[in-house]
Amino acid sequence: MLPIKTKNELDKLLKSKSNSKVLGLVPTMGALHKGHLELVKKAVQENDLVVVSIFVNPTQFDNPEDLKKYPRDLSKDLALIESIDSDILVFAPSVSEIYEHSVHSKTYDFQGLDNVMEGEFRDDHFNGVGTIVEQLFKLIKPDNAYFGEKDFQQLRIIKKLVEIQKIPVNIIPCPIIREAHGLAMSSRNERLSEKMRLKAGFIFKTLQSAKEKFGTKSALKVKEWVKNQFLKEGDFEVEYFEIADVETLSPLKRKVKNKKYRAFIAVYAEDVRLIDNIALN
Ligand code: PAF
Repeated sequence: MLPIKTKNELDKLLKSKSNSKVLGLVPTMGALHKGHLELVKKAVQENDLVVVSIFVNPTQFDNPEDLKKYPRDLSKDLALIESIDSDILVFAPSVSEIYEHSVHSKTYDFQGLDNVMEGEFRDDHFNGVGTIVEQLFKLIKPDNAYFGEKDFQQLRIIKKLVEIQKIPVNIIPCPIIREAHGLAMSSRNERLSEKMRLKAGFIFKTLQSAKEKFGTKSALKVKEWVKNQFLKEGDFEVEYFEIADVETLSPLKRKVKNKKYRAFIAVYAEDVRLIDNIALN
């Protein structure tokens, strides 16, 4: 399987192949794991033609070290995709192909969805995500695009992006896939030691207990409890733990009947930043 490297080549191929076919897109940054492969399988089931994009997008990294260390293995990714379906098109452009002369993101008004959690701790992150995802949508024109709920805030913001930019695409959310001990699958997990990878199941266990407590306790009490659990455990540094409304992503102050809430966490483990989330009701 050979990747498509240029926008021109991709455009020509899509024009020749996608006539009246339902087209699915799975945008990724490569280093594919089981979580990505579930997105790809779902896309294959639901579309006539599938494009997987592989592009480590520099404008969504606020930390150059993190960008440098981001795992990359194109030949392994291609083999994994081919094992699902050899007709999948893989678009793996270079940075200059996407950004031409200026590696900068556009600025969007995501109506506050980007001011909290990941947006608060990662400068300009969602403008970077919006810039690449908008470009991919405009180039590929998919009917359906697949995103994992592990990046729940990203998913919410991409729905806002297509609303404000009026892009006709269905955004399909896909559930979080976990390792045997509960750690949410992520390309960053590869950077953890084997010991820490097992220990990091603690993050999901704590989220599950927080969900149970949320049934009877206030958001503030649950937040205190979670932070204490991590302090006692000692191996993780919590960047944030937040309980937020799933629509507005605004932090919960007082529970309102019939509203849906989710708990969100970001922690450092051995200098690797891990995020996770869980539906609370
Ligand atoms: O979730 C990701 O891997 C990235 O943020 C995305 C959506 C591919 C944009 O670079």
